[in-house]
Amino acid sequence: MKYQDSSGEHIILFGDSIKLLDQEIQDESIHLIFVDPPYNIGKKYANFIDKWPTEENYLLWCYSWLELCFKKLHPEGSIYLMASTQTIPYLDIYLRKHIHILSRIIWHYDSSGVQAKNYFGSLYEPIIYGVKNPKSYTFNRDDIKVEAKTGSKRKLIDYRKAIPKVYNSHKVPGNVWYFPRVRYRMEEYEKHPTQKPEALLKRIILASSNVGDTILDPFAGTFTTSAVAQKVGRKSIGIEIEEDYIKIGLRRLGICTHYNGNLLQKPLKSYQRNYQQLELFKDD
Ligand SMILES: C[S@@+](CC[C@H](N)C(=O)[O-])C[C@H]1O[C@@H](n2cnc3c(N)ncnc32)[C@H](O)[C@@H]1O
Repeated sequence: MKYQDSSGEHIILFGDSIKLLDQEIQDESIHLIFVDPPYNIGKKYANFIDKWPTEENYLLWCYSWLELCFKKLHPEGSIYLMASTQTIPYLDIYLRKHIHILSRIIWHYDSSGVQAKNYFGSLYEPIIYGVKNPKSYTFNRDDIKVEAKTGSKRKLIDYRKAIPKVYNSHKVPGNVWYFPRVRYRMEEYEKHPTQKPEALLKRIILASSNVGDTILDPFAGTFTTSAVAQKVGRKSIGIEIEEDYIKIGLRRLGICTHYNGNLLQKPLKSYQRNYQQLELFKDD
């Protein structure tokens, strides 16, 4: 099933990504692919349990959609792939044979809860960033610069230069990125176990695509990639197999107001419901 907005710039494909990548997406038409697949760690996504019988089965499944992603990627396109810390080494070896890896990124976040008591708990997720053609690809360095926490803050002079200058106050981020995870109280929160932050996708999309480019997310979840693409003037295609998440995408992208006759509404959070009740009884 295919849905699109009135401009035709944002497309939602409902179904299995391997089948839809193959059938619905033109070869070499995609400028940027962001892939955040199930991690094979037993998470529950609506009706789908993210666990394969063996690691080998899981890897073979990953290779089959990765192969299609390479086929759909524009000759000057870029791909960002997320995976679990235990799987990423295998995918890294596979990717090296097909694309040019430019960065191995760590998305680091903090957690108020206890991660592990008897070993060092995991507080990061790896992201591999690669391109088809290392001599020609998009990288908008000026759109993603961050404040440099070096000398410029302390107003130091960089004497390594022939003519000493103050340190640059902004720089291209390194490969360790800190973004808070999406929390219940955040405006962007949707009901999904592994929703990615808009800020993370914004950095990727601004860096590796231009206005009007098409961005593909084959495991769209809450359609974060498409929502950010829409905000920054790119086109998007998101594929998702679970109906609950398709409904989130349709609402988040403003594609339709109703689904099967029911209004698509963001559910109120518990504290919003409590507040609403307080408002109702205010004059009692
Ligand atoms: C890690 S989540 C993606 C989260 C997403 N990046 C976000 O920000 O919300 C992976 C998603 O892949 C979906 N999925 C699993 N198998 C699929 C398949 N064969 N085809 C399409 N989507 C699938 C799951 O339902 C889940 O929502």
